[in-house]
Amino acid sequence: MAPLRCQFQVGYEVPVHFTRGAFARSSTILEQVLTSTPGRVVRVLIYVDDRVLATHPQLEASIATWFADRQGVLLAAPVQAVTGGEAAKADWTIVERIGRTCAELGIDRHSYILMIGGGAVLDAVGFAASLVHRGIRQIRLPTTTLGQADAGLGVKNAINAFGNKNFLGTFTPPWAIINDADFLEALDDRSWRCGIAEAVKVAAIKDVAFLTRLAVLTPALARRDGEAMTEVIRASATLHLGHIAGSGDPFEQGSSRPLDFGHWSAHRLEVQSGHRLLHGEAVAIGVALDTCYAVEIGRLTMAEAEVILGILAGVGFHLDDPELATRDAHGGRAVLTGLEQFREHLGGVLTLAMPAGLGHQEDLTTFENDLFEAALARLQRWNRLFIASSVASARV
Ligand SMILES: NC(=O)c1ccc[n+]([C@@H]2O[C@H](COP(=O)([O-])OP(=O)(O)OC[C@H]3O[C@@H](n4cnc5c(N)ncnc54)[C@H](O)[C@@H]3O)[C@@H](O)[C@H]2O)c1
Ligand SMILES: [Zn+2]
Repeated sequence: MAPLRCQFQVGYEVPVHFTRGAFARSSTILEQVLTSTPGRVVRVLIYVDDRVLATHPQLEASIATWFADRQGVLLAAPVQAVTGGEAAKADWTIVERIGRTCAELGIDRHSYILMIGGGAVLDAVGFAASLVHRGIRQIRLPTTTLGQADAGLGVKNAINAFGNKNFLGTFTPPWAIINDADFLEALDDRSWRCGIAEAVKVAAIKDVAFLTRLAVLTPALARRDGEAMTEVIRASATLHLGHIAGSGDPFEQGSSRPLDFGHWSAHRLEVQSGHRLLHGEAVAIGVALDTCYAVEIGRLTMAEAEVILGILAGVGFHLDDPELATRDAHGGRAVLTGLEQFREHLGGVLTLAMPAGLGHQEDLTTFENDLFEAALARLQRWNRLFIASSVASARV
C-alpha cells in the first residue's frame, strides 16, 4: 500500500532592530514587535542577565516605567534575574524555573518572554521558552557584541549537558530581535572583543570584502571604538541572517555547518578549560587553528592566513592557550576529542567548514592528526613572532 504523504511549509519573518535606549520612555521599538489581537492585553515576562542588572542599575525602573506608560501591554511579573554567563546553561535549573513561573502566572502562547542578556542567557532562557506550551514567543535583546553579531540572531536554543556544549536544545526562531548598542558600553574588554571572533569567522568563509574591512578596522577595534563595533556587528549580523535565510537548511538537517567554522575545537577548549575561556575567545583560537590547517592542505596561502590571524591577534585575542597542550588518558591531544564530538553531533560523517581562498568555503570530510600538529606548530610560531613584534613596537 502506498504511504500517505504529508507535506507542509512554515514561513518565518524575524525583524532585527538596531537601536539605542530601547527602554527610554519615547522608544517605540518594543511596541512594534509586541503584536496582539485587538482588545487583548499583551503579557510579557522578562528575564535579565544578572550582570546586566548590576551594570545598569536603572534598567529595572526604566522597564517598569516603559510598561506603566502604555496601554495594552502588561508586565506579567517583576523583572526576573538570571545568572549570567555559561552558568546559565549549565543544567536544567532555568527550564524548571521558567516552566513553573509560566504555569503559576498563566502565561499562554500569545504572551511573550523577553530575554535580555549575553548569548548564554539567551540560549538558556530561549530553550526554556521553546518548551513551555511547545513554544512561547521569544523576543531577544542581546547585550553582548557576540550576542548581537551572532548568538542572538540564530534559530538555536540550548543548554550544555553530559560534558558537551549545547547538547540539549531546540530549533526555535525568535519572534523578534532588538540590538541595543547602549548595553555594550558596560562590557569588560574580554566580552567586548568576543563578538569580533564570530565576525572574523563568518567573513573568512563568506565575504572577503568584510574581512578586508575588519583588517582596516583592527586598530579602532583594539582601542574599543564603538562606531567600528556597530559596523562590525551589523555586517556580521547580515551574513549570519543571510546564511540562515538563504542556505536552504536553517534547521541544520544536512551535515554542512559553515557557521561552525573553527567551532569543533572551540567548543572542546571551552569545556576543557572549565569555561575559563569565553566562547568568543575559544572561537578565536579555533578559527586560527583551522586557518593554519587550511594552509597545510593548500586551501590558503600563509599571506592569506595572516590576514585572519592579524585581525584576531590585533584586537587582543590570545591565539595560544595552555589547553592546547593538554593530553588525554591515551596521550593524545585532548582538544582532538572535539572532532569526535562534532562527528557524532553531525550523525557520524565528519564535515568541517574550511576556507577555500579568503571569503569562500568548502567542506572537508577528512582530517589528519599530523597535519593538525603542523598547523598548531605554525600557529604557535606565528603567535610568538606577533608577540615579539608587538613588544618591540611598544618599546619604540
Ligand atoms: N544560539 C546560537 O546560535 C549561538 C551562537 C553563538 C554562540 N552561542 C552561545 O553564546 C554564548 C556566549 O555568549 P556571550 O559571548 O554573549 O557570552 P556570555 O553570555 O557568557 O556573557 C559574557 C559575560 O558578560 C556578562 N554580560 C552580558 N551583557 C553584559 C553587559 N551589557 N554589560 C556587562 N556584562 C554583561 C554576562 O553576565 C557574562 O558574565 C555561548 O554559550 C555560546 O555557546 C549561541
Ligand atoms: Zn560561536
